[in-house]
Amino acid sequence: MKYISLLGATGSIGMQTLDVIKEHSNEFTLVAFSVGRNIDSAREIINQFSPQLVSVQEKPDYEMLKLEFPHVAFTYGNDGLTEVAVFEKADILVNAVIGSVGLLPTLQAIEAKKTIAIANKETLVTAGHLVMDAVKKHGVALLPVDSEHSAIYQALQGEQTKNIERLILTASGGSFRDRTREELEHVTLKEALAHPNWAMGAKITIDSASMMNKGLEVIEAHWLFSIGYEQIDVLLHKESIIHSMVEFHDSSIIAQLGTPDMRVPIQYALTYPDRLPLGGAKRLNLAEIGKLHFKEMDLERFRCLKFAYEAGKIGGTMPTVLNAANEVAVAAFIEGQITFLQIEDLIEKALSAHQSISNPSLATIQEVDKETRQFVQTLV
Ligand SMILES: NC(=O)c1ccc[n+]([C@@H]2O[C@H](COP(=O)([O-])OP(=O)(O)OC[C@H]3O[C@@H](n4cnc5c(N)ncnc54)[C@H](OP(=O)(O)O)[C@@H]3O)[C@@H](O)[C@H]2O)c1
Repeated sequence: MKYISLLGATGSIGMQTLDVIKEHSNEFTLVAFSVGRNIDSAREIINQFSPQLVSVQEKPDYEMLKLEFPHVAFTYGNDGLTEVAVFEKADILVNAVIGSVGLLPTLQAIEAKKTIAIANKETLVTAGHLVMDAVKKHGVALLPVDSEHSAIYQALQGEQTKNIERLILTASGGSFRDRTREELEHVTLKEALAHPNWAMGAKITIDSASMMNKGLEVIEAHWLFSIGYEQIDVLLHKESIIHSMVEFHDSSIIAQLGTPDMRVPIQYALTYPDRLPLGGAKRLNLAEIGKLHFKEMDLERFRCLKFAYEAGKIGGTMPTVLNAANEVAVAAFIEGQITFLQIEDLIEKALSAHQSISNPSLATIQEVDKETRQFVQTLV
C-alpha cells in the first residue's frame, strides 16, 4: 500500500489522480489533500476517501468544514499546503496545484524525504535549481506527471543521459494552432478554452493556446533531465499521439505513444517502476489512425515559446519573471481585463524590465516573483 498526499485535488490533474487511486484502492490510499475554493468537491472527496488531513485556501471554509467533519484534521492557506505536502503518513506527494504557490510545499516535501510526483510545472520553472539541488541532497525521487516529461522519462529507462543528442517535445498547437497572428487579435476566452485534444484546467489551456505551456515545459525538461536548452527541440504534432521523444547520439529515436489520457502518466508516476492496467484507457490503434502529422515550430508566430527559451538560457531569476508575469497576465485575460495578444506583450515588458540575478536564493526568488506580479498588475 502506498499512502498519498495530493495538492490540488479539485483540479483537472487532481480529479484524475483521485480516479487512479479509486481504481487501485488495494494499492493506494489518499491520506491528505488540499483544495482551493471548491468546497463542495472537497466534501465529496472527504466522504469518498476518508482522508486524515485536509487543507483549504480560506479560513472561513476551514472553520465551516471543521464543524462538519469533526473526525478529520483541517488546515488552511499556504501553510496548509505545506502541512499536506509533508504529512507524515504519506509516502508520495502528488503536486497538482496550479502556479508557483506549489514551490514551498515541494521543497518541504523533498526535505521530508517524500517521493514527489510533479504536475506543477511552475515550481520547476521558477526555481528549478533549488528543487533539483534539494532532490540530490535528500536523495528523493522526482517523477514527472506532465505527459511530455513522462514520455521522456519512459524513453530514458535503461539509458544514460550522456548519450542524449536532443529531447523532442511534441506540441499539439493548442486552441489556435491554425490561426494567423492577425486572427489572434480578436479571439475570445471561450475560444481559447476550447483545446482540441486535452480537457485541462483554465490556466494551462490558455498557456497551450499562447504556446507558453510548451515554453514552461522546455524549462521543466532542462531541469528534470539536466539538458542544455540547445538540446531541446519542440515539434508541432497536432494529434498528441507521440507524447515526446529522445534522440541519441547514434541517431536512434525512442518515442512514447498513446491516446491522450492524463491518467496514464499520473498512474505511471504512482506505480513506477511497475505498471498496472488502467480501466477505460483507450488503446492506441495506429492502423485506424493511419497518419500522424508534424510541423516545424515557428517562434515568431508563437512568441511566448521564444521568450521561454530566452529566459531559460539567461537563467537566474529570468524564468521566475517569465512565470510570474505569465500567471498574472493569464489571470487578467481570464477576467476579461486584457486581450489574448496582450498576454505576450505584458510578459515581454516584464522580461525587458528585469536584470537577472544569478543563482538566486529562495528569498530572492520570492521577492522577484512578488515584484513581477506587482509590475504586471500595474500594467494591467
Ligand atoms: N490539466 C492537465 O491536463 C495538465 C497536464 C500537465 C500538467 N499540468 C499541470 O498541473 C498543474 C495543475 O493543472 P490543472 O489543469 O489540474 O489545474 P486546475 O484544474 O486549475 O486545478 C488547480 C488546483 O489548484 C487549486 N488551487 C489553485 N490556486 C490555489 C491556491 N492559491 N491555493 C491552494 N490551492 C489552489 C485549485 O483549487 P480549487 O479549484 O478548489 O479552487 C485546484 O485544485 C499545473 O501546473 C499544470 O500546468 C496539467
